[in-house]
Amino acid sequence: MPAPDDHPARPGDAFRHASKATGESVRTFHPRRATLGARRGDALDRLWPALGFSVHDPDLGLAPTGPDGTLDAARLFGRTAPVVLEIGSGMGDATAEMAAADPARDYLAVEAHLPGIAHLLTLVEDRGLTNVRVAHGDALDLVRRVVAPGSLDAVHVFFPDPWPKARHHKRRIIAPAHVALLRSRLVLGGTLHLATDWAPYAEQMLEVVTADEGLANAHPGYAPRPAHRPVTKFERRALDAGRPVHDLVATRTR
Ligand SMILES: C[S@@+](CC[C@H](N)C(=O)[O-])C[C@H]1O[C@@H](n2cnc3c(N)ncnc32)[C@H](O)[C@@H]1O
Repeated sequence: MPAPDDHPARPGDAFRHASKATGESVRTFHPRRATLGARRGDALDRLWPALGFSVHDPDLGLAPTGPDGTLDAARLFGRTAPVVLEIGSGMGDATAEMAAADPARDYLAVEAHLPGIAHLLTLVEDRGLTNVRVAHGDALDLVRRVVAPGSLDAVHVFFPDPWPKARHHKRRIIAPAHVALLRSRLVLGGTLHLATDWAPYAEQMLEVVTADEGLANAHPGYAPRPAHRPVTKFERRALDAGRPVHDLVATRTR
């Protein structure tokens, strides 16, 4: 029997695939080794074929696409409904919670860290959710290559890696070019929702969102904490450490 981390039909190291497929040298995520426990490994083995796809590796199954090569969300979810893209879903707690509370929309969680994907699959199964799918790999690459312009109802980026050192700021996902890309994939009136506990990053987010001419900030400055965004481990840790959390909610205007 193969060791849990060597399962032949299981996603492996996203970084290897990411760099091979795209040649991108600047990544917005930390390289981490994937260690799966038995429960997550089992969930991955059973649920991946129906609920998961890989951003980069055809052997693991890629996104279902239509004739124009863009994501066929109706095939992915088995129905036509507004789609929420969650970038960097981590362990997936917020995704599962929000999807459960919002059954009329479909949630696509993209995460580079495999144990997080596997954990989200356990939550999906435990809660019997039918409106969640997972993608493993670099979300920016997925959005660039496969997600059609004007096709998403919302994009969520909750507690993205803050990359606090100045020499790493280029790795921050909330930067002008990335925000323009994400905005272009929203429907008109669609929402970009960001949250961070890192004050300097919050300032950068506010600057970037304000400067993007196709986005309108829904609130003057930061948004009041939306009740529908669940408190994750990251937020709890930040609050316990006395770091306030900032939310930003902007809508696509053109
Ligand atoms: C600090 S964690 C926050 C996780 C989760 N959103 C939460 O609130 O608990 C940031 C996550 O984003 C993921 N990530 C960063 N850049 C990514 C990218 N380009 N594509 C996919 N995942 C990414 C990281 O692997 C990490 O799990």
